[in-house]
Amino acid sequence: MTDSFYALVPAAGFGARMGQETPKQYMPLAGRPMIYHALLTLCGNAEITTVFVVLSSEDTLWRTFDWSTFGDKLQPLYCGGQTRAESVLNGLLASELEPEDWVLVHDAARPCLSALQLTRLLDELRNDDVGGLLAVPVADTLKRSDAMQRVEHTESRASLWQAQTPQMFRTGLLVQALQSIPNVTDDASAIEALGLKPKLVSSDTSNFKVTYPQDLQMAELLLQHGNIK
Ligand code: C5P
Repeated sequence: MTDSFYALVPAAGFGARMGQETPKQYMPLAGRPMIYHALLTLCGNAEITTVFVVLSSEDTLWRTFDWSTFGDKLQPLYCGGQTRAESVLNGLLASELEPEDWVLVHDAARPCLSALQLTRLLDELRNDDVGGLLAVPVADTLKRSDAMQRVEHTESRASLWQAQTPQMFRTGLLVQALQSIPNVTDDASAIEALGLKPKLVSSDTSNFKVTYPQDLQMAELLLQHGNIK
């Protein structure tokens, strides 16, 4: 049996931490709405059959942009939920993928995903029993604060990783996990709660999540230098 790969991009959030009226996924970045850049990388991978984008049912901005360059490979689904996990689950159910299909869930807010990082994820996980995610070993020293924002103590960073996306699992397993454990901030956490151990696939910090306004400049620099695609 040949494996089938799909991508799903939850983009039904409002990006409250950016403090802007325009939802984060549509904020201008290197001449395009932010989400365009991740879609370019995902649609550009020949092994990925379809890229689903999960939008809020109230989204009025998606159709104001031109997505024709992606053709039929890009499929918007207007079924976003109250949380990221709910948006992912709704999208998986609406996509009508087979339980055995691999799905790569990627945040719209990680525009600097490179073709190389994506290929590494596919290659390291295609024969894996569980699936996994891109991640980076924690580099900074970690401090735990008290209520006065003073250092309570220093945490060991040994064996600690920062989770990124895409996160890649079999569709059936991910649906089961998200239905059983709905309150998670990433897909891997739901899989872990089933007692499974997702694999950490080494990535690098260029695939960071745009969260605060200053992150936009960093992403713009990386995209414009074009050395990460
Ligand atoms: O807000 P945060 O950066 O954690 O969101 C991660 C991703 O989840 C974004 O792509 C955002 O649009 C998406 N999301 C969603 N539905 C929600 C909340 C967030 O699709 N209800």
